[in-house]
Amino acid sequence: MGMSTHIGAKPGEIAPRVLLPGDPLRAKWIAETYLEDAKCYSNVRNMFGFTGTYHGVSVSVQGSGMGMPSASIYYHELLSDYGARVLIRVGSCGALTEELQLRDVVAASASSTDSAMNRVRFDGLIDYAPVASFELLRKAVDVAADKELPMHVGQVFAADAFYTDRPDLFDRLAAYGVLAVEMESAALYTLAARFRARALTLLTVSDHIKTGASTSSHEREQTFAHMVEVALDTVVA
Ligand code: ADE
Repeated sequence: MGMSTHIGAKPGEIAPRVLLPGDPLRAKWIAETYLEDAKCYSNVRNMFGFTGTYHGVSVSVQGSGMGMPSASIYYHELLSDYGARVLIRVGSCGALTEELQLRDVVAASASSTDSAMNRVRFDGLIDYAPVASFELLRKAVDVAADKELPMHVGQVFAADAFYTDRPDLFDRLAAYGVLAVEMESAALYTLAARFRARALTLLTVSDHIKTGASTSSHEREQTFAHMVEVALDTVVA
């Protein structure tokens, strides 16, 4: 009763403040590492979601899967059925510019995309500009500065395909100020706007498109932790 189509939580079991990793096992790790009294509210399709408290504030962590078709399902149901109001994606990205190094943290102020979802949404007449909540972005910048964690703020590219036949477009995007590629931010920003909620995407650089370098899984875990700490302090601020 009262559960949404893809999330097995009852109304009230999900907090208005939600962290959104793509990997459901990352959701479990965040809940176990940082939340008090964390309870799993959904294991539908193994896309785990947890609610607990962080510094006394109720916070949920929900896996979204990879890519905008999957992630949009979870973002939409959190917003429409469970009253999510503050949503922070915590993920990884590929660097498109030498300005970024492996393990750097990026806050996505805006998101270009090759997804057709917004083209369909606006009848192909308008190139909608998905942007982060200014308020959340400002908080995240302040939190990262307090923690002395360097953070890049800038545009990212939300790609539909991880494997691309057009790697040349990455250089074009970089020439126009796009820092990194990931696969969900444009959908998150668009849906949050639609539901009058606030959203932000924080990313750690897991691989470098220009140099081909990539981080080990151990390094990914460590840098992921720093970013999650910024996300948690921002989501409860
Ligand atoms: N997430 C992490 N690395 C990525 C890449 N190279 N492309 C798309 N999404 C990513």
